[in-house]
Amino acid sequence: MSRVHSNATPSDTIVDLDDVHLRLDSGAGPVNILRGVSLHVERGERVGVVGPSGSGKSTMMMVMAGLERASSGRIRVAGQDLARLDEDGLARFRRDHVGIVFQAFHLIPTMTALENVAIPLEFAGVRDAFARAQAGLESVGLGHRIHHYPGQLSGGEQQRTALARAFVTEPSLLLADEPTGNLDIDTGVTIVKLLFDLAERRGTTLVLITHDPALAARCDRTVRLADGRIADDGVATRRARPALVGE
Ligand SMILES: Nc1ncnc2c1ncn2[C@@H]1O[C@H](COP(=O)(O)OP(=O)(O)OP(=O)(O)O)[C@@H](O)[C@H]1O
Ligand SMILES: [Mg+2]
Repeated sequence: MSRVHSNATPSDTIVDLDDVHLRLDSGAGPVNILRGVSLHVERGERVGVVGPSGSGKSTMMMVMAGLERASSGRIRVAGQDLARLDEDGLARFRRDHVGIVFQAFHLIPTMTALENVAIPLEFAGVRDAFARAQAGLESVGLGHRIHHYPGQLSGGEQQRTALARAFVTEPSLLLADEPTGNLDIDTGVTIVKLLFDLAERRGTTLVLITHDPALAARCDRTVRLADGRIADDGVATRRARPALVGE
């Protein structure tokens, strides 16, 4: 069957946000953080998310991961309607479908690299969690650092550990918030290469928040947020790619 992106069937779409609003009450009164975000990401796509500080990028990622509930709008990710899931359902959804790399690594300081990477596997009840965690660390070049604590690792090594942890459950969707934000340029280049290599090998869909033009340039399209809305979703760039059939 020939198919064009604009006519994609639901099974091609891994992220489907439709008119998502998020309003939070702060001490200074209600704040409209997301103001009608609609975004579709197809399986295997690599999407860069850019936009000024405070435009809602991290919040949109939290909503996609089911870590923050929207005030209104539809959020379907990996075929699940997140509004219909309770907290346990959301935890299972993340375990089964989503890997997350946070800006500040979020490694647990009292656990070794190996233990940090094994956590999501243990949570999923995987029997050979530690063997798989070790293989995951080897895949990011940290086979010689598995018993080190985060405080004994460099920034780049901590980020590689965070990548290993995000990929170890083989998620269909990987969300990363400024994965190179805290790293020097050379280490950032290494992390970006690793991230795309791991995603390529596993067919992972990537949604990457970044201020780094080199990282955005490696993505299939760049989505720009401004003031809680999608100002540009990069679809024109994506349609210009030659892989489309039937256009
Ligand atoms: N819990 C909260 N209560 C009130 N306002 C919030 C809360 N969390 C975030 N905000 C506000 O929502 C807006 C969007 O925040 P968000 O963290 O999504 O921005 P961002 O685009 O990721 O910015 P940056 O590039 O600086 O990381 C900001 O103005 C922020 O102050
Ligand atoms: Mg942010």
